[in-house]
Amino acid sequence: MNQTLTNNKSIYLETFGCQMNVLDTQLVKGQLQSLGYAFTDSWQSADVIIYNTCSVREHAENKVWSRVGEIGIHKKQNPHVILGIIGCMAERDGKDMIRKHPQIDLLCGPGELDKVPMLIDNRLKTDLEERGGVRNADIALQGNTHRRTATLSAAQDTLEMLDLSRAFDPDTHEGSAYVRITRGCNKFCTYCVVPNTRGGEVHRHPDHIVEECKKLVEQGVKEITLLGQTVNHYHYDTNATITIEGVHQPQIGQILSPNRGTGGPSPVFSDGVVSFADLLARIHDEIPNLQRLRFITSLPRDFGNDILQVIKDRPRICRYLHLPVQSGSNRILKLMNRGYTVEEFKDLIDRVREYLPDAELATDIIVGFPTETEEDQQQTAELLRYCKFKNSFIFKYSPRPGTVAIDRFEDDISNDTKKRRNNELLNIQSEISKEIHEAYVGKTIPVFVEAISRKTIKARENAADPAVTIGWEKPQEITQLTGRTDGDLIVVFDGDASLIGITVDITIDQASPLTLFGSQAAAVNASSNNA
Ligand code: 5AD
Ligand code: SF4
Repeated sequence: MNQTLTNNKSIYLETFGCQMNVLDTQLVKGQLQSLGYAFTDSWQSADVIIYNTCSVREHAENKVWSRVGEIGIHKKQNPHVILGIIGCMAERDGKDMIRKHPQIDLLCGPGELDKVPMLIDNRLKTDLEERGGVRNADIALQGNTHRRTATLSAAQDTLEMLDLSRAFDPDTHEGSAYVRITRGCNKFCTYCVVPNTRGGEVHRHPDHIVEECKKLVEQGVKEITLLGQTVNHYHYDTNATITIEGVHQPQIGQILSPNRGTGGPSPVFSDGVVSFADLLARIHDEIPNLQRLRFITSLPRDFGNDILQVIKDRPRICRYLHLPVQSGSNRILKLMNRGYTVEEFKDLIDRVREYLPDAELATDIIVGFPTETEEDQQQTAELLRYCKFKNSFIFKYSPRPGTVAIDRFEDDISNDTKKRRNNELLNIQSEISKEIHEAYVGKTIPVFVEAISRKTIKARENAADPAVTIGWEKPQEITQLTGRTDGDLIVVFDGDASLIGITVDITIDQASPLTLFGSQAAAVNASSNNA
C-alpha cells in the first residue's frame, strides 16, 4: 500500500555538533511539524530517524557511524523505517556513504535543508515495488561543483526560505533563541572542513534578521544569540539588494575583509552598507524588550573597534567574546592560514580590555597540528596566560578529508603527544579559570536563568515517586537552577523554576573552575528565617 498520508508518521531527530546545527534542527523540525509530523524521543518507535551531523573532527563522525550501524540492525526487523543523514557528514561523504551503508535512505547537505520535507515525503510515497525492488536514496547535496560563486546564484538561494519559515509559536520558544546572520565560510583555514560542507559565506538581509529577532521577542524570547561562522565579517550592501517575489536575497560574502587588521572600520564601508557593528546596534536599539544580545563566533582577523564601541555603548549586548585563536605560534598560524599573527591577536585582546574591562573571553585551540614543536606548544601556553580566557575549548588535531591540511601535511604528531599537550594546556587553563571565577565571590551579579540543573533533574529521576510514598509528608522540593552572567559564566543556585527565562540578581558565595555557586538576593533573607 502506498504511504501517502504523512501526518501519522513520527520522527526521531538527533543533533550533533555546533550551535548552527542546533538551529538547523529547530528550523527543519518546525517545517516538519507544520506538515503534521509528530516527534518522538525514542528512536525505537520512530518511523523516520534523522541524524543532523557534524564533520569537524573524526570523533564527531564516529558517533554517527555507530548509530548508523545500530539502525542497520534495527531496520532488519523494521524495514519500513526511514534513515536520513542530514548536515555536514552528508555533504562531505556524499553518495559514498550510501554505497557503504545501504540502510541510509536519504541524504541532505546543510545547504539544502529546505528540501528535507520533500525528501521524506518522496521516500514515504515511493515503496519498494515502484522502485523495482531497488531502494535508491533520495539525495539533496550542494556538491563541490555547485558552490555559490556569484551574486546571481545567491539570488536563487532557497535556503533563506528555511530561516524565514521559522514558526513563531509562544509554546515552542524558551527564553533563548538562535538567529542566523551569516551562513557558510570562505576563510579556508587549512584544517577546517566547514567551507567544503557549508559552502561560501552568505549574509542575510538585515531587515530579515531584525524582523526575526522582533518576532521572537514578541513571542517571549528574552535572549538572542546571533550565529555565523565569522559573525564579525557580516556585511550587507543594501544598495545592491536583489528582491525576488518580495524576498530580499542573501548576499555573497566579500573576499576582501571589511576592516582587515585595523582598529576600526575600513574605507570600503559606505552609505547603505550594514556592517556587523551596525547590525548589532540596530537589533539592540530597535528591540528594547530584548534583554540580552549575544553572538558567536568571531574571527580574530577583523575585529574592529567599531564593534567594541557599539557593545560598550549598549548595556543589553553581552560582555562576552568567543575568539578562537587556535595556536600561540606564528609559524603554526601561518600553516593554518588564519590570517593574523600572535601580536595582532594580543592587540585585539588589549583593545577588548580597554573598551570592555568587564568582558569575559573564551577561545578554541588545536594541539598537535602537523609539525607543531614543543616550542610552539610553549608559545600557546604563554598566550593562554596572557589572554586570561574564562575557558578554552582545546582539541587534538584531526585530519579531515577535503581539507588543504590533509593533502599538504603529514599528521606527524603522535596521539600520545597530542594528549599530553592537550592536558598541559587544560591544566594551565583550569588555574586561570579558577582565578577568574574566584574573583566573583562576594559580588552580586545579574544572571539570566536558563534551566533546571542537571543535578536536580537526575535526582528527580532517581527519587521514588512521591505519589506512592504514603504516610510521609512530601519534603519541600529544592530546585537547583542554572543560568549565565553577561560574561557567559555559568551560575548555579537554588530557586523556583518560574525564574527560568528571566534575569535575577545572584550573590556569588563559591567558585569552581567552571561554575559559580550563589543565592538569590531576596531568597537569602527568606531562608535566613529558617536557619
Ligand atoms: N581538528 C581539530 N579541531 C578542529 N577544529 C576545527 N577543525 C578541526 C580539526 N580538523 C576546532 C577548531 C574550531 C572548533 C570549532 O573546532 O578549534 O574553532
Ligand atoms: Fe573553519 Fe576557519 Fe571558517 Fe572557522 S573561519 S569555519 S575555522 S574555515
